[in-house]
Amino acid sequence: MDSEAIKHQKAQVGQEAVQYIEDGMVIGIGSGSTMWYMVEALGKRVQTGLNIIGVPTSHATRKHAAQLGIPLKTVDEVDHIDLTIDGADQIDVQYQGIKGGGASHLMEKIVATNSTKNMWIVDESKMVEAFNYPVPVEVIPYGSRQLERRLAQMDLHPRLRKNPAGEFVTTDSNNYIIDLYLDPLTDPIRLANQLNPLVGIIEHGLFLNMVNTIIVQHEQGPEVINV
Ligand code: 5RP
Repeated sequence: MDSEAIKHQKAQVGQEAVQYIEDGMVIGIGSGSTMWYMVEALGKRVQTGLNIIGVPTSHATRKHAAQLGIPLKTVDEVDHIDLTIDGADQIDVQYQGIKGGGASHLMEKIVATNSTKNMWIVDESKMVEAFNYPVPVEVIPYGSRQLERRLAQMDLHPRLRKNPAGEFVTTDSNNYIIDLYLDPLTDPIRLANQLNPLVGIIEHGLFLNMVNTIIVQHEQGPEVINV
């Protein structure tokens, strides 16, 4: 699929997802370019009377949603979240996900794990047999080079993420990202178990057994998968 077709599918699925939002809901609002379209569509519904509270998962989403007049609270200011809608980098055949390509997976995972239901919205290029996308790991800057060495010794092919200027990318929580280049990654549960005990790792981008509904946008229309 060319990039224009992917962009078109992201826009379509973003608009489609808003239909699942009902009056009175508390909605977790994910991050990324697919979610940008969803936030635009949600803004329009709020402007015509939909009454919801949004819980954003990144500074960028917070800013975008606030500009459109969507009422917002933080995850600590609500007593529940009915539904979180978010994008994903890849989803495998077991409906496990990799997220964090946009470096927002820490806040996304906190919001997701505090949500009654989670929905991912993706263009069809994101659905894969086995993951071949780098797994992002958010790490404390202190000791991050040592952690990178340790991950290399574990054959996890780590690389501290840098921006085009060659500076370390920092997350909304002022941490660094180490991407693990594992292609293919066939056992994400094993990888999560390897990463979970390591000191200095705050959160990895493997979202395992977390999603309830996936909307995959195809050229012919949306496919809704209830997991
Ligand atoms: C950000 C994320 C995004 O959901 C993921 O990167 C998908 O982004 P996009 O919709 O731009 O393809 O996890 O951390």
